[in-house]
Amino acid sequence: MMIAPTARCPKWLIGPMKDCGGSISFYKYMDLVLNDPSNGFYSTGRLKIGKDGDFCTSPSLGNYFAQLLAIQVVQWFSDLEKAGIDSKLLSLVEIGPGEGTLSRDLIDAINEIAPALISKIELVLVELNIGMRKRQEKVVNNLTGVKYRWSNFEELTQKPVTGVVIANEVLDAFPVERLVFKDNRVFRQGVSLKKINKEYFLDFVDLKPTHAIDQFLKDSKRLLKIDFPPKDICFGWITEWHCDVQTWFRRLSKVLLNGSLLVVDYAMESKRYYNVMRNNGTLISYRNQEANTNILKDSGLCDLTAHLCIETTVNYAITNGWKFIGETRQGQALLALGLSKFLFSLQNATSNNLSDSLERRESLLRLVDPMGLGEFRWLAFQKDNSNDLVLRNRFLEEPIN
Ligand SMILES: C[S@@+](CC[C@H](N)C(=O)[O-])C[C@H]1O[C@@H](n2cnc3c(N)ncnc32)[C@H](O)[C@@H]1O
Repeated sequence: MMIAPTARCPKWLIGPMKDCGGSISFYKYMDLVLNDPSNGFYSTGRLKIGKDGDFCTSPSLGNYFAQLLAIQVVQWFSDLEKAGIDSKLLSLVEIGPGEGTLSRDLIDAINEIAPALISKIELVLVELNIGMRKRQEKVVNNLTGVKYRWSNFEELTQKPVTGVVIANEVLDAFPVERLVFKDNRVFRQGVSLKKINKEYFLDFVDLKPTHAIDQFLKDSKRLLKIDFPPKDICFGWITEWHCDVQTWFRRLSKVLLNGSLLVVDYAMESKRYYNVMRNNGTLISYRNQEANTNILKDSGLCDLTAHLCIETTVNYAITNGWKFIGETRQGQALLALGLSKFLFSLQNATSNNLSDSLERRESLLRLVDPMGLGEFRWLAFQKDNSNDLVLRNRFLEEPIN
């Protein structure tokens, strides 16, 4: 009996696959389908974030997320000012800004909370993909009274900044290596091209692990004491390695002289991540609000996302010059920043704007829903040249009400 291959190969991918001898690593596949300049889901700007798009992120549910996050951002900015750091401008850097709404809404919210700050702030957007940048331009170019620019790590490294860096749902979109364990052996997952009756399909294939993969496995055991792979795994147990995150922290450490970094993403502890029960990793694809575990389907027309392992991520940051401030779940962070006050204010809505308040209430609750966005992790880091920068972190405090 012939087993059907996993998915059809789109026309544009046949050439690059053939150029590589018919098989590529999953890492390369994920990079192509998201970031290939002419066909990638992000680079073409095909990705649409929001209720009518492919999936919702916190900023796409309205401006509450930005209004609450701005309270923390303003606290960090004022601590940087108080620390007397010699910097003419404070930068608010957003990496992977998607539709650009978080950047815009953060600036609006800062303007409301601390209007005096706005003249001292510049907004810096760092976007890898031209299609997404074009979408951001339409949103951010409407901002008035604040300096803004798009930049990249190369440029920023030449002229490092002081301020706050935000990366919301960006690291989960970095290409990952998939590791397959079979009978005490580890393989690098690859994707191969198959021709059946004149049609091309994609299927998984086992490739030889790279030296970097071997090193990752050794380091996880030695440095992080991660039981990897866990005992009693099934034949073909799969997991992921976010191999670009280490380099990202290293490069970002050269961009920020003083300040903080907030990573908000799908993430979990190593015990849950590298768990015997999680036998197919965390990768999932999204399109038109539907999640799909067939991650080879509709290449270039879907988003692909993989969770972060918290310990590995924190370790990569620390070994690249960052101090770990702390982490918490988004639900907890937003409550600490005052989400319940927003909910309370909606109770006083009059019947004329009832449907609007019900919609706002639903959006607020979605941000903290433990089965959804509320389970996201906020991981905060700081960077300081002088070693004596003290930042207050309200998002880590116990919620008052
Ligand atoms: C899932 S979207 C998240 C968008 C937005 N932050 C939000 O929460 O709505 C990922 C974004 O990161 C961008 N991106 C992916 N890899 C990147 C990288 N290495 N550097 C900068 N941006 C990147 C994508 O093009 C896209 O705009």
